Amino acid sequence: MTDFKQRIFSGVQPSGNLTLGNYLGAIKNWVGLQNTYETIFCVVDLHAITTWQDPDVLRNATREVAAGMLASGIDPKKSIIFNQSQVPAHAELAWIFNCVARMGWLNRMTQFKEKAGKHKERASVGLYVYPDLMAADILVYLATHVPVGADQKQHLELTRDIAQKFNSDYGVDFFPEVEPLIFGAATRVMSLRDGNAKMSKSDPSENSRINLTDDRDLIAKKIRKARTDSEPLPGTLDGLEGRAEAKNLINIFAALSDRDAADVCLEYEGKGFADFKRDLADLSVSVLGPITEEMNRLMDDTSYLDGVLRQGAENADAIASPILKNVHEIVGFLRP
Ligand code: TYM
Repeated sequence: MTDFKQRIFSGVQPSGNLTLGNYLGAIKNWVGLQNTYETIFCVVDLHAITTWQDPDVLRNATREVAAGMLASGIDPKKSIIFNQSQVPAHAELAWIFNCVARMGWLNRMTQFKEKAGKHKERASVGLYVYPDLMAADILVYLATHVPVGADQKQHLELTRDIAQKFNSDYGVDFFPEVEPLIFGAATRVMSLRDGNAKMSKSDPSENSRINLTDDRDLIAKKIRKARTDSEPLPGTLDGLEGRAEAKNLINIFAALSDRDAADVCLEYEGKGFADFKRDLADLSVSVLGPITEEMNRLMDDTSYLDGVLRQGAENADAIASPILKNVHEIVGFLRP
């Protein structure tokens, strides 16, 4: 037996409420990984300010994301949990990566295009170089595995490109090849109002998403109101093709109950959405209700939360600082 564990890093932005997408696409998957990997989970506040955040709201959201991670089963005895701005190595390495990444690479990032929209000229420079900071988050710990939802895949490919270019520019074999871990039945949770749009914190419609702060009644109401079509449910996954809303709800059901989507289809073959939605609402409330209640309890105990984040930052810094020191040497920064 060896006590060498591979290292995982992942993060969530404290910009708005945690959604069911964050939970099923990322945080839920992290819980099981804590036993087999060394795990570092980060509330990425530096990323959040790439679009303006009210300072009080940001402080509160930072605690709320941390509370959401803890309430979902991230154990501070097993994992490092902290907020990004407490560990300066992230921003320092990001600067170096700004000098490694090419404009052409960043120009291809679909998330920037989506977020900046038609007003690219008015987007912050931070939003543009956001993926360089994300690469720095991961590589400042020499992490090798990154559990995320499907929407982050392109950013992780860029992380690999940056690591490779750094290694070849400086003739070293320093940064590892990062591997995305995208798994589970809901790697891309879609909006409840539009099966072709991602469920997102920034969607103007509250009914498009389930927030981890929603109470039981609100969760049930949003599911009841979720858009569907008029056909009964099919017995196979093939029957979901072209039915984006139905597919999304089946995937959510499967992910919440740890089952295969195919298995859920079989169970509901030929049934209408009324029955299915009633069961999905019950299931959602039974899984998410206790998480929401624990989150609320933790939000009332800010001294505990802050203690976890302070200790997490200390532990994270102890890993990142020596790695950044090696980078300084490789790059040629004099440390007299
Ligand atoms: P963020 O804050 O948008 O989302 C956090 C995590 O939740 C996943 N996710 C989803 N998964 C499935 N369906 C959805 N609708 C959905 N919405 C969000 C995301 O894929 C992500 O895993 N850039 C990152 C944060 C970040 C990061 C990192 C992640 C910064 N540095 C380093 C990994 C490693 C982001 O904006 O996530």
